[in-house]
Amino acid sequence: MNTQLNEPIKILITNQKGGVGKSTIAANLAAYFALQENIGVSLIDFDKQGSSSRWTKKAPDIGVRVHCAEINYENSGIALLSARAAVRKYSLGAQISISDLTWHPTLSDDFMLDFDIVLVPSSGSKFEMASTEIFILEYAQRRMARLAVNKQFILVVPSRVESNYALHGAFTNLDFLMNCHITPPIHRAADLDSYVYEDFLCVGANQALAENFCNFGKFLTKKVEERMIIRKSLSLTGTSLNREIVKKVSVLDDYRERAKELGMYGGYAAKPSLERRQPSSFDADPAAPRERRFIPAFLRRLK
Ligand SMILES: Nc1ncnc2c1ncn2[C@@H]1O[C@H](COP(=O)(O)OP(=O)(O)OP(=O)(O)O)[C@@H](O)[C@H]1O
Ligand SMILES: [Mg+2]
Repeated sequence: MNTQLNEPIKILITNQKGGVGKSTIAANLAAYFALQENIGVSLIDFDKQGSSSRWTKKAPDIGVRVHCAEINYENSGIALLSARAAVRKYSLGAQISISDLTWHPTLSDDFMLDFDIVLVPSSGSKFEMASTEIFILEYAQRRMARLAVNKQFILVVPSRVESNYALHGAFTNLDFLMNCHITPPIHRAADLDSYVYEDFLCVGANQALAENFCNFGKFLTKKVEERMIIRKSLSLTGTSLNREIVKKVSVLDDYRERAKELGMYGGYAAKPSLERRQPSSFDADPAAPRERRFIPAFLRRLK
């Protein structure tokens, strides 16, 4: 990857529909970034079954940090707070975090807005496509203004697609939405169970499947790079906004000083904390454990 990351790029893999391939994509995309792009990845598994976390934990260690997180669905406010806290905590220290989550209606879609890229997997079947489109349209409709400001990428991932199946026409209904794209398809692996807990698609023995998944991974890497450029421009806008805020604050400070001199000011200014922040375990250099890692021969890089 060309550009350096200051803050992790956050990717959410979600759909309200079950069994669409979220966990398979989450585990294998994490492996692709770690193995083929040498990126420090954190995988956050929100699903109770723990499919993607178990896959990544049981397979040979490739340096992906795996976390299981739970959302408290007691009410919408608590759900949002607990989900946000988990993403913030488990993304620290990584370059990219990947969250695997079956969407739940209790969760406010403010949560979806926290991510740089939202991947919505779906097979090409008409039922699944229709429900995926409705899911994205409802979200886009509710959050149109914020989406326009955030410029978040929403990517539909055709998953479990037969390798000889022509996709044209099946995934075009959302083209009118800004920043909504379709990724290269992920083919159906007849022998997927031989990979689960053992190996990853991007480096496995089946060359055609490996190439197919790497194609998807390369597309995502480009989107991550595009997103970093967009984020820089967004933070520039943020900076000018911050400058305005700083100006206003300093006007207020002048006012307070002046008021104090005149004996009219009853407020107090909080003293800046002199305590130094203790480094947390998440501050560790993401590259550090990499050298100590055992990478078996079959997890070779694909040329
Ligand atoms: N590319 C693929 N090729 C073949 N089978 C696949 C592929 N992707 C997913 N599957 C199979 O489809 C089923 C659902 O996949 P997965 O568990 O990844 O979906 P999910 O959306 O995470 O499901 P859930 O909603 O239960 O969490 C699994 O049995 C998985 O093995
Ligand atoms: Mg799953």
